[in-house]
Amino acid sequence: MCGIVGYVGKKNAVPLLIAGLKRLEYRGYDSAGIAVVVENKISVRKTVGRLTNLEARLAQQPLAGSVAVGHTRWATHGEPSEINAHPHCDCAGRIAVVHNGIIENYHELRAALEAKGHKFLSQTDTEVIPHLIEAALRDGAKNLPDAIRAALNQARGAYALGIVSADAPDTLFAVRQGSPLIIGIGEDGDRFIASDVPAVLNRVREAIYLDDGILAELRDGSVRLTNLAGAEVPAKVQPVTLSAEAADQAGFETYMLKEIHEQPRVLRRLLEVNPLFGGGANFGLKSDYFRKLQRVMIIGCGTAYHAGMYGRLLLEQFTGLAVETDLASEFRYRDPHIDPGTLIIPVSQSGETADTLASIRLAKSWGCKVLAICNVPGSSLTRESDAVLFTEAGPEIGVASTKAYTAQQMAFALLAIWIGSARGMIDATACRSLLADLAGVPDAIHYLLDRKDSIRAIAQKHHEGPSALYLGRKFNYPTALEGALKNKEISYQHAEGYAAGEMKHGPIALINEYLPVVCICTKTSDEVYEKMISNMREVEARRGRIIALATDGDSQIARFAHDIIYVPYVRDEFSPIVNVVALQLFAYYAAQARGTDIDKPRNLAKSVTVE
Ligand code: AGP
Repeated sequence: MCGIVGYVGKKNAVPLLIAGLKRLEYRGYDSAGIAVVVENKISVRKTVGRLTNLEARLAQQPLAGSVAVGHTRWATHGEPSEINAHPHCDCAGRIAVVHNGIIENYHELRAALEAKGHKFLSQTDTEVIPHLIEAALRDGAKNLPDAIRAALNQARGAYALGIVSADAPDTLFAVRQGSPLIIGIGEDGDRFIASDVPAVLNRVREAIYLDDGILAELRDGSVRLTNLAGAEVPAKVQPVTLSAEAADQAGFETYMLKEIHEQPRVLRRLLEVNPLFGGGANFGLKSDYFRKLQRVMIIGCGTAYHAGMYGRLLLEQFTGLAVETDLASEFRYRDPHIDPGTLIIPVSQSGETADTLASIRLAKSWGCKVLAICNVPGSSLTRESDAVLFTEAGPEIGVASTKAYTAQQMAFALLAIWIGSARGMIDATACRSLLADLAGVPDAIHYLLDRKDSIRAIAQKHHEGPSALYLGRKFNYPTALEGALKNKEISYQHAEGYAAGEMKHGPIALINEYLPVVCICTKTSDEVYEKMISNMREVEARRGRIIALATDGDSQIARFAHDIIYVPYVRDEFSPIVNVVALQLFAYYAAQARGTDIDKPRNLAKSVTVE
């Protein structure tokens, strides 16, 4: 996922762009560049690798100007190279463009442009955009906005674009279709564009969340919005409530460790402000709707999908509804015979994941209602849903999701209790009891975080092998999957999450004395705990190396496990919200021992806004 920052105003744009791009580094990238309008010309600097390389180039070849765009590129079309880095320009070098997304029909557009004599330098899809604009001007477009609109009417795909031109030296243009882009309203006439609010947090107090198909013209002190027909549209200016310190590391060595430690506070806040039992704000669907509801489909990707798997079990147990889950990347290509009476619950931290957005757009075409569980106000998903349950976790900068995941789990717990109450499946006494138990989860996590040194010691013993296996059952089967994903994505050690009951159906062949097997075996009120003990004995009998997650005071488990991570007791249904924090820390310390880039793991992006 690429990062875009742009500026127009009275100041030198270059240091502002570099600072903004640094706040977008979490998105993942492999090259960077900026374009500045200088004395009615466009000047460009581009480098491969980290932003420090671009800064070094700027130190050698300084640039200064008050209208500019900057970009960090996460390669989709064309290898990471200086020539493929953004910005890209037209033949005359008078238009510069930065882009996040994919132009799906760029092959035919490029062939048509080359047939007209346009010369391309890169392998990217993006480079067709400046040439399309140039061609539109040559074909008689009366001004740059019309030329941009003509270009975009030919392009197909997802894009967020920042555009500057030597022929409009006081203007920064921005437009989006399917990829996020915000306009930041700063002081003293400063105007910004950015892929995400953290990029300009310390510079703006208000923002406009650009809608698809709206072309923005930013000048010193002003913003003009027009639709693709050229008609002016009003700007919806919203306050930026995130604080700059909320997006910094607050003294932790990494964003991920900070965000792991933020979880008790995040969950307490969610319990206080949620619109179901807390803050009282209407969240868009009435309880009468849920009384008539028959079926729910939960969709998501990666960690969000694991939250959905957990949410399904809670909804089934507390509401009596039929609930299905699917990966968004699979759902969108199925024919699931969903009727309009099915509620779609997309789960997404960013609200910009391409597969999740495509899935809800499909479901809405079938007439379904959509209730999103999401962390980012103003994101595409929240603006396209009928109702939103915000996870209120604040900006999550670490690529590996932690606090957003436990907040998604907590949101599902609140939703399931609330719907169960609305449907008469949970009486007032049971509701109070469940909410009281849920209110104990943040404290349990707080106590668990105090044990991080013991978790680090265990992780340092088991991080070297080529692989690890994570086993869980029922509510903690999704926990096993999420623990394995954390392990994979930040330590690069292969790890597989598995339903413990499936061991005999294949994975037991993997067991040997070198394979770490993480068994989630916290106490339960049903037969699941005993079943997990049996699974651990099967592993032990084959000399497997067991790392057990166990409930405080469980002495029998020491007979089977090499190492035990003890976690505070909470009722079964809510134990995954606590247990996963132990696995977040386990993966974190394994990654630290393996020396990986924990906040920006290789090949990963914070939000997958392309397919
Ligand atoms: C989480 O650790 C991963 N980085 C990734 O799986 C993520 O959960 C997934 O891409 C979905 O993102 P979203 O929640 O923003 O939709």
